Amino acid sequence: MLTLITFTVFLFILFSSFSSTSTPYTPNDYILLNCGESSNSTSDDGRIWLGDDDYKYSSSNPKTSSFASIASYQDFSVTRVPYMTARIFHDKFIYSFPVSHGPKFLRLYFYPNDYPGLDITTSFFSVSANNYTLLHNFSAYLVSSIPPPQAFIIKEFIIPVTNKVLNVTFTPSPNSFAFVNGIEVVSMPTNIYMGHNYGSVKLLDTNYLFVLDNTTALETMCRLNVGGRDLSNVDDTGMFRTWNEDGPYSFGVTQIFQPEVTITYTLSTPAYTAPEVVYKTSRSMGPNARINFNYNLTWFFPVDSGFYYFVRLHFCESIPDTITRVNERVFTIFIYNHTAEKAMDVIAASGGNGIPVYKDYVVLVPHSSSSTQDLWIALHPTNEGRPMFWDAILNGIEIFKLSNSDGSLAAPNPEAQPVPKLSMVQQNHSKSSQIKVIVGATVLGSIVFLLLLLSFIFWQRIKQLWYNMKSSNRRKVSPLSEGIRCKHFSLVDILNATNNFDDALIIGRGGFGNVYKGQIQGMQCEVAIKRLNSKSHQGENEFWTEIELLSQLRYINLVSLIGYCNDSHEMILVYDYMANGTLRDHLYNCDNIPFSWKQRLQICIGAARGLNYLHSGAVKRIIHRDVKTTNILLDEKWVAKVSDFGLSKMGPIFTANVPITTMVKGTFGYMDPEYFRRLQLTEKSDVYSFGVVLLEVLCARPAVDIRLEDEQIGLAGWALKCVENETIEQIIDPYLQGKIAPESLRVFAEIARTCLHEMGVERPTMSDVVGMLEFALELQETAETKEAVEVGGDTIQAQTINDVV
Ligand SMILES: *[C@@H]1O[C@H](CO)[C@@H](O)[C@H](O)[C@H]1NC(C)=O
Ligand SMILES: *[C@@H]1O[C@H](CO)[C@@H](O)[C@H](O)[C@H]1NC(C)=O
Ligand SMILES: *[C@@H]1O[C@H](CO)[C@@H](O)[C@H](O)[C@H]1NC(C)=O
Ligand SMILES: *[C@@H]1O[C@H](CO)[C@@H](O)[C@H](O)[C@H]1NC(C)=O
Ligand SMILES: *[C@@H]1O[C@H](CO)[C@@H](O)[C@H](O)[C@H]1NC(C)=O
Ligand SMILES: *[C@@H]1O[C@H](CO)[C@@H](O)[C@H](O)[C@H]1NC(C)=O
Ligand SMILES: *[C@@H]1O[C@H](CO)[C@@H](O)[C@H](O)[C@H]1NC(C)=O
Ligand SMILES: *[C@@H]1O[C@H](CO)[C@@H](O)[C@H](O)[C@H]1NC(C)=O
Repeated sequence: MLTLITFTVFLFILFSSFSSTSTPYTPNDYILLNCGESSNSTSDDGRIWLGDDDYKYSSSNPKTSSFASIASYQDFSVTRVPYMTARIFHDKFIYSFPVSHGPKFLRLYFYPNDYPGLDITTSFFSVSANNYTLLHNFSAYLVSSIPPPQAFIIKEFIIPVTNKVLNVTFTPSPNSFAFVNGIEVVSMPTNIYMGHNYGSVKLLDTNYLFVLDNTTALETMCRLNVGGRDLSNVDDTGMFRTWNEDGPYSFGVTQIFQPEVTITYTLSTPAYTAPEVVYKTSRSMGPNARINFNYNLTWFFPVDSGFYYFVRLHFCESIPDTITRVNERVFTIFIYNHTAEKAMDVIAASGGNGIPVYKDYVVLVPHSSSSTQDLWIALHPTNEGRPMFWDAILNGIEIFKLSNSDGSLAAPNPEAQPVPKLSMVQQNHSKSSQIKVIVGATVLGSIVFLLLLLSFIFWQRIKQLWYNMKSSNRRKVSPLSEGIRCKHFSLVDILNATNNFDDALIIGRGGFGNVYKGQIQGMQCEVAIKRLNSKSHQGENEFWTEIELLSQLRYINLVSLIGYCNDSHEMILVYDYMANGTLRDHLYNCDNIPFSWKQRLQICIGAARGLNYLHSGAVKRIIHRDVKTTNILLDEKWVAKVSDFGLSKMGPIFTANVPITTMVKGTFGYMDPEYFRRLQLTEKSDVYSFGVVLLEVLCARPAVDIRLEDEQIGLAGWALKCVENETIEQIIDPYLQGKIAPESLRVFAEIARTCLHEMGVERPTMSDVVGMLEFALELQETAETKEAVEVGGDTIQAQTINDVV
């Protein structure tokens, strides 16, 4: 008897300890079908997929209506399971999944690639689930080729099931065929989206109440972990939802991550609603109330016209002891022309700090001349109730399309992208189905124009890369040419060096992936390991091209590539580690001892030499394109080294969910104005950006991000105004005041001014810049020697600044 009790207690402990580590929700229906496969297989995320060759879920179909096929080429961004095998249908084909009553996630996986004997561009088909039309005359090929192109497509739907069966029907369009690579069916808590706690959802700006019940099917348009990172399906609360980051770079916008905070779920926001990390990360506007008041924190989502959309916003005040009471942070929420909340106070809505809450809205995006439109969400601080802070916060966004009265979610195919021809010029821009996020966007109305222009420019570039990728996709990866001196590391070396990609070793993050600090066994020095994200859409060919190029660039003022690793589809680059970090860090971080003027000049000269080498260097003409203080690194001897040149730095632009505009964000103040007009990058664009760096070196002061001081005209415009109005002494770093020889300052200001000339041709070359900076250094050294000779030197210091300009 005692043994039995002990055993029961043991079981209980075992069970409770198990449940504490398991997810908040365990689906009772969970089917993974790897279509076109005969045996069970495990995907990279550890999930087991059943083959569908046994017709367990499709027994009623004639055997001749479908066959299994294997893709001829595995793109670097797809995993073998479930993408490499497909089931091809010539005729109507039904999968019948026996499931419980209630709403179900249905995820369809498509890999539109070459299958033997089939032309994927001719595949058009419809998919329905029970009585809902999910896709109509759908072309996976066309959808996948919307810029930025993606190798695979995942469609997620929520289908209400009322009679214990989920039928998924594939119907090829006339003279066509249908295909699917994987099907996933997962149940969910009945109340999570449909018939949820608040009862019904109000249609914005009306009194009409939307009931999301067993008569509505949903399609997921986006699910974002705002201010945070991508969360893969296995990190969800048990429903295998994927949460994407909303833009890895934020500028003037604060990303918050509070790992230590305890998230307290409630009855109205149960633990399965969203993973804790969604509530621990957020985006807010920034510390400067005046700036916050002058802009909207905005996100844009391209959606199909003519549907209602269900928008769920997740909130949580997660900074302990900061915002804890009502009326501390209150803001207005605008959704697509409507005021969704006049005064959103997260603490009032949730009940306290660390308590998550979500708000649901339904909005109509009416029919219009274009088949897609931007659904946008904008947050703006309100001062009506005189809150303590002028700021706004958001933690997560989910947007679903609602089925229309015909039970359909289908939208027209995007327009066909042109077949690659000689001409790359394309007039019409078909909107990406990817999420475009613009965070902390417009201060100026004109920025909208700029962004359009930029998306056009980048779109051209993406297309170019895409063509390169498409044409190279089917070729075997080209090996490095003979004689390239670049070390190959095994994945084991890299895993050892980075402690299995330990987050604690991350020294940089970006759309391209993470950069880790590491120590490779057998090597004396530390290294920086850049692990390119498989989603960075950098093809293997581009990877090799880059290695080949970078390994030939050896120069004291450039960060050198040491080696690479390409085992197991990884794309990893190994660089010299720069012990003293970025120039930016030393300019703005109070913890660092400020540099003297001479040190600053030496750093500028080093960086200018590095750029000059790229522009006129041995291998080939290289335009850096992203010169900024974060890309100028300092080694242990304080030698400046230019980093982040080559192809991989384009990574962020090509990342699936990363908006084109994030590229602009990071470098906005540095961008050559002529580049906007002529859509052409030249070496002189780098010269312009370098001019901005020079101004920062002169004017930056710790803890004050001068780029925030006057966002209206940008750093360059602002500083230039000071240079032109001869008020430069007012803006230089107070630490430097009185320590710069007037002649040296005059030359330096002149270099910066000419670098920032509006017309590229009027700007100096990098080699001129090197010469002039050396002259400025000489002037400073001469003055300091003279000063040392004179008694005290105080008199000279006092007069210097007044003499300037
Ligand atoms: C696949 O796995 C399922 C359950 O996990 C099992 O019932 C089935 O027999 C397996 N099939 C094969 C071919 O191994
Ligand atoms: C589907 O539609 C048919 C006819 O329109 C109807 O008879 C049937 O009940 C519907 N099934 C479900 C599950 O709604
Ligand atoms: C399907 O779409 C393609 C291209 O969008 C179009 O050419 C074709 O006519 C459509 N077929 C049907 C049956 O609607
Ligand atoms: C749909 O939900 C309503 C209200 O909950 C219920 O009365 C009805 O029976 C449901 N329909 C089906 C087919 O289950
Ligand atoms: C699902 O498909 C099976 C077999 O084709 C059919 O018997 C059943 O009526 C269908 N159920 C629904 C709800 O469509
Ligand atoms: C913020 O967005 C709202 C709604 O579109 C608009 O009325 C307001 O002018 C915007 N504010 C700023 C500062 O851009
Ligand atoms: C947004 O509101 C403005 C002014 O009320 C109106 O002109 C415009 O058509 C609206 N746009 C949409 C998409 O509803
Ligand atoms: C661009 O689109 C417009 C309207 O959709 C159309 O009238 C025009 O012919 C298109 N231009 C090109 C070059 O495709």
